[in-house]
Amino acid sequence: MLDKNILIGVTGGIAAYKVVEVASRLKKLGANVRVMMTRNATEFVSPRTFQEITGNAVSVEMFGDAANFHVAHIALADFADVILIAPATANFLAKAAHGIADDLLTTTVLASDKPLIIAPAMNTKMFDNPATQDNLKILRSRGATIIEPAAGELACGTVGKGRLPEPVELCAAVEKIFTQDKFLSGKKILVTAGGTVEAIDPVRYIGNRSSGRMGFEIAKSAVNAGAEVVLVSGKSELTPPNGLHFVKVEAAVEMRDAVLKYFDSVDAVIMSAAVADYRVKNPAAQKIKKSAETLTLELVKNPDILRELGTLKTSQVLVGFAAETQNVLDYARKKLVEKNLNFIVANDVTAAGAGFGVVTNIASIIWRGGKVENFAKMSKSELADKIIERVAKLLHG
Ligand code: PMT
Repeated sequence: MLDKNILIGVTGGIAAYKVVEVASRLKKLGANVRVMMTRNATEFVSPRTFQEITGNAVSVEMFGDAANFHVAHIALADFADVILIAPATANFLAKAAHGIADDLLTTTVLASDKPLIIAPAMNTKMFDNPATQDNLKILRSRGATIIEPAAGELACGTVGKGRLPEPVELCAAVEKIFTQDKFLSGKKILVTAGGTVEAIDPVRYIGNRSSGRMGFEIAKSAVNAGAEVVLVSGKSELTPPNGLHFVKVEAAVEMRDAVLKYFDSVDAVIMSAAVADYRVKNPAAQKIKKSAETLTLELVKNPDILRELGTLKTSQVLVGFAAETQNVLDYARKKLVEKNLNFIVANDVTAAGAGFGVVTNIASIIWRGGKVENFAKMSKSELADKIIERVAKLLHG
C-alpha cells in the first residue's frame, strides 16, 4: 500500500500517453495522485483523461478563477511527498536547471523541497546535446533522481536513446523513494570528497581533477540509508546533498583537522577525497611576480590522513579509495594494508568513464584477506550504494 501524495508533472512530449498508465498504477497502489500538465502536454493527452484516472482535478494554468484564488504552486508543492516529471522535455530540463518558473509546473518544482524524480524523453540528438546533458548534470547534482531514457525506435522515426521507460519502471522509482530501508539508522558516517587545494600564493594553488561527485554520492547514499552523515569536502562545484552536516575545507591539513574532530564519534569513515600528497613549503604572502625564466617551488609532504586514522582506529570501519594509473590492484592492496583499512575501492583513473569528473566509475573492491569484487562501469550513485551496503554489513557484524 503506497499511502502517499504523488504529484506527476507531465510536459509536452508524445510519451505523455504512457504516463496515463503510470498514474493509474500508482493510484492502484494506493497513492493519492495529482497531475499537473504544461499547456503543450495537453496537446498530447487531455487533462480529462488524467482526471478520470486519478479522481482528482488536473492543474494546467497558473492563474485560474480569481474568485477561487489559492496559491496553487505552493499548495501542490506542499501536497506532494514526491514529484515525478514524466515525460520531461529538454525545455523543462533547461528551465528546471536554471530556476526558470514561467508556468505552473516549473513554479511548483521551484517551490518544492520534496524528492524530485525526472524521466527525460526526447529525440536522441536533443538528449545528447551538451546543453541537455549539462542541465541533467545540474539537476542530478542538486539531488534529483534522473531515470535514464531507454533506447529504441522513437516517435520521430529515428532509433536511439530517448524513449520514456516503461510505466512499471517509473512506478518502481517512485516506490523506491518510500521503501528505502533505513539500514544505517543510528549510525554516524564520515565521508570525505573533492580535491584539496594547496596554496602557492594568494592567487594560485596546486589542485587536482576531483569533482567531488563520488564522495557526494556516497554521502547521499548513507543519508538515504538513515545514517547521520558528516561530509568533509575539499574543492567541488557540486551542491551538497540535503540532510547532512557539510564541512568545507581547502588544504589537506585542514581536511585532517576536520576529520580528526569527528573521528572519535563516528562508526565509519569513507575517504574518497583526492588529498594532495605534498604542499608548498612556504606559500608566498603576495602574488608571485613573473620575472625569472624558471620558478622552483619547494614541496613538503602532507599528513596522510587515512594512514593516521588507521593507527588511531578503535571500532570504526575504515574505507579508502585508491586512484591509480597503473598496477591498480597491486598498489591498492598495498594501501589497504598500510592504512589498516577494512576495504579499499580501487579505480583506474585513466579508464574511459572512470575516475575524476565523470558521472560513472569502474571500480574494484579489495578486502583484507584478498577477496576482490570487480564491478562493471556504473553510475557513481550505484557504486556509492554498493559501498554503503558493504559498510553496513561490517557495522552490523
Ligand atoms: O571526485 P570525483 O570527480 O567523483 O572523482 C572520484 C575520485 C577519482 C577522486 C575517487 O574515485 C578516488 O579515487 N578518490 C581517491 C583519490 C586519492 O587521493 O587516492 P590516493 O590513491 O592518492 O589515496 C589513497 C587513499 O588515501 C584515499 O582514500 C585518500 O583519500 C587517502 N589519502 C591520500 C593522501 C593523503 N595525504 N591523505 C589521505 O588520506
